[in-house]
Amino acid sequence: MLPLVTQLTHFRENKDVDFTLIPPKREKLNQLFINTHWAYWIDPDHFSKTSYDGPLHLHRVALRFSNAEQQYQAVNKVMDILLNSMTGLNREHLKALDWSLNEITDNVLSHAKSPVGGFIQASTYSQSKRVEFIVADAGIGIPESLKISNHEKALLEAIKEGITNNKETNQGNGLFGSQRVASMSGGEFQIHSCRASLQSKQNNPPEVTKQKIPYPGTVVQCLMDCTSPRLLEEALRFNNKPHDPPFDFIEREYTDQSGEHMILHMNEHLKYLGSREAGAALRNKIFSLLSCVPPDKKLRIDFSGVSVISSSVADEVFGMLFQEFGPMTFMSRLELTGIDSTVRGLIDRAILLRTLNSKR
Ligand SMILES: Nc1ncnc2c1ncn2[C@@H]1O[C@H](COP(=O)(O)OP(=O)(O)O)[C@@H](O)[C@H]1O
Ligand SMILES: [Mg+2]
Repeated sequence: MLPLVTQLTHFRENKDVDFTLIPPKREKLNQLFINTHWAYWIDPDHFSKTSYDGPLHLHRVALRFSNAEQQYQAVNKVMDILLNSMTGLNREHLKALDWSLNEITDNVLSHAKSPVGGFIQASTYSQSKRVEFIVADAGIGIPESLKISNHEKALLEAIKEGITNNKETNQGNGLFGSQRVASMSGGEFQIHSCRASLQSKQNNPPEVTKQKIPYPGTVVQCLMDCTSPRLLEEALRFNNKPHDPPFDFIEREYTDQSGEHMILHMNEHLKYLGSREAGAALRNKIFSLLSCVPPDKKLRIDFSGVSVISSSVADEVFGMLFQEFGPMTFMSRLELTGIDSTVRGLIDRAILLRTLNSKR
């Protein structure tokens, strides 16, 4: 759907073609078109972006980016979706994902000359600990960018180390590294561009096929298995040296200015915190962040600016974390700061009720 959405947007905005979406009759599928914003992107006159864009169904929203600021926002949103919906990711996985997402989306802005920018969509499979993202543009395509007339050969070249259309400014590691991260994790990497498709799975050599129907632009699809613990170290090697991305998502978004503490600002999450499901997403996020905090340090949860929280969220987040961790671990791993007396009372009560209920 994402490549289709990208092309339809291009036709509507630049070729004066209008589309009307006849929504699927099956309610579940219809809901999917709405929640992912596919319906909106295809037929914006009749469908809107759903007003609630909380973390829950965000894991399937198609996002568009046309400049560096939007690209930054889109990558952060995708990373947040991962934290909300998956547990057991470690910092290595998050770094690998963050790095690949940045590289692939950057390619759209740097090379594609796409009149509609790029679209990105991610899915998470929490049971199997797999994450998939897809990035599509309606640009010139990889063969033209690399000036290689054989399309299959162009895709094979593009994923080699150091291959770039501009050696002076670029390193040519983006597709090479992303392909390695995806395939070496046990996932899959695919590119469709113009008249060729490339697929790379596990440790097999990449395969290319000729496409009868060309894709006018580039689609990159990356499926990563997040169970292999030393993924980053093994997969991201340039010039035969391991590459550790220095400034990752956790550092950008969840570290305080001194760089010493990991911190979660509750007021930034409160707009989402209506339901129990939203509470569960936040609990997942706290779990994931904790796996990135060194064992002798605490995750700081800052309540500054928060004057009330619903009791179901207090239970879903803090009651359940307390029950799961036990009092000693809860106290030694989490530090709740900036908390006012009302909120403190609500959290105390949620923890107390949980403890009482679990004794029955
Ligand atoms: N979305 C895209 N559209 C057009 N060309 C692309 C796209 N993504 C990658 N390319 C081509 O593939 C080459 C390799 O990409 P990459 O490995 O990220 O290296 P770099 O971006 O450093 O050049 C690019 O130099 C460019 O020619
Ligand atoms: Mg690149």
